[in-house]
Amino acid sequence: MFFVCWSRRESKGTHRPAQVLPLALALLLAACKPAPPAAATATPTPAPALSPAEGASLYEQSCAMCHYDGHDSQAAPALIGSPIVTGPPGPLIRVTLHGQRNVSVVNGRPFGGIMPATQGLTDAEVAAVVSYVRDRYGNGLPPVTAADVAKER
Ligand code: HEC
Repeated sequence: MFFVCWSRRESKGTHRPAQVLPLALALLLAACKPAPPAAATATPTPAPALSPAEGASLYEQSCAMCHYDGHDSQAAPALIGSPIVTGPPGPLIRVTLHGQRNVSVVNGRPFGGIMPATQGLTDAEVAAVVSYVRDRYGNGLPPVTAADVAKER
């Protein structure tokens, strides 16, 4: 305000500086406004990963009736020490999704069983159960993501 009044006095009759200054300030304020949040809403956010506890309860629901606590049984071969569990995640994701028949070997002999495909789990749920198996039976291997599972569907 002081500056505007001062300019008016200095300019002696031509009111130009007094008119230009508020306009310049308005432009400056407009330039400082934050960008609209359009970009943030345009990119889809991926579904949040499930917790390790959710992975554990999915194991109880979908795997434990055959694999129990990871040791071999009449129903299924061991997950503890299985090269499919301790290796790269691709084969483990594929077995979990699609099941397998007469592939597993226990003590050098074919186990000779049928594991059914896992039905009705989302990519995030399969990722959670596979992550649980890798952590618990694969000596703390890192988790996999829903995107890793989507690649193997
Ligand atoms: C109905 C019983 C059953 C259920 C439920 C089941 N499995 Fe299996 N699973 C088996 C059988 C039987 C085999 C052995 C198949 C073969 O002989 O190739 C097997 C094999 C495997 C193997 C390969 C082991 C190896 O070293 O060859 C993995 C890994 C595995 N299952 C993980 C899982 C996971 C994870 C789940 C839960 C999402 C699950 N299974 C649910 C019965 C089951």
